[in-house]
Amino acid sequence: MDDMILEIRHLSKSFGSHEVLRDIDFTVNKGDVTSIIGSSGSGKSTLLRCINLLETPTSGEILYHGQSVTGPKVNAPEYRSHVGMVFQSFNLFNNMTVLENCVVGQVKVLKKDRETARKNAMQYLEQVGMAPYINAKPRQISGGQKQRVAIARALAMEPEVLLFDEPTSALDPEMVGEVLSVMQDLARAGMTMLVVTHEMAFARDVSSHVVYMNQGIICEEGTPEQIFGDPQRQETKDFLSRFRKN
Ligand SMILES: Nc1ncnc2c1ncn2[C@@H]1O[C@H](COP(=O)(O)OP(=O)(O)O)[C@@H](O)[C@H]1O
Ligand SMILES: [Mg+2]
Repeated sequence: MDDMILEIRHLSKSFGSHEVLRDIDFTVNKGDVTSIIGSSGSGKSTLLRCINLLETPTSGEILYHGQSVTGPKVNAPEYRSHVGMVFQSFNLFNNMTVLENCVVGQVKVLKKDRETARKNAMQYLEQVGMAPYINAKPRQISGGQKQRVAIARALAMEPEVLLFDEPTSALDPEMVGEVLSVMQDLARAGMTMLVVTHEMAFARDVSSHVVYMNQGIICEEGTPEQIFGDPQRQETKDFLSRFRKN
């Protein structure tokens, strides 16, 4: 199928004898906004890290447009320019300015000239409302601003899919909204996104698809209406009711 971007097939990952992911199967199609929800320790970050080639699966396959990306010959930086990632802790280069953070990958990986890369970066920094801060260093801006820069940096690579690992979990509560709003705009614009989140309102209102992970497996998945309105598995019901009480 033309609009299938990523296929995860029988993916398992163990750390020593600890099996953290077990036989994970799912696909990411063009335009999907998939939220992955689940308790801490259920393997959500490990799954995203496998997809971004930051962890090597113990078994199973990850296919990008039908090609395996888990073999030895894969050019990881090049692949990551298509499948970008935004981390909970921003992972900006602290010694570089905001603008430089958004330029360096385009020059190094995409081999763009600096001027083209700079113009492109400016466009995305404007989109996330960070154009006034291009000369700031990460330490001079707030957490919400850092995360918006991290999103602009990922977008500047013009990826086909963006992975987000709890992008608002490290933020002070008053900064969560500005980051979620940027993500919501991206979703509306048709960006393909895979988002690990504890923001149930985002999962319910913005995503097209919700995956509930529990103890290393996909316990249940479906539309937000199915998962939030009519969950089938007891584990899903328990997880959601724990969330509603908090
Ligand atoms: N590098 C690692 N080495 C050993 N164990 C790990 C490593 N990374 C994650 N784990 C373990 O894998 C399990 C799942 O972790 P993680 O994927 O971070 O879950 P989640 O993101 O859902 O909270 C946890 O028990 C965690 O301790
Ligand atoms: Mg995690």
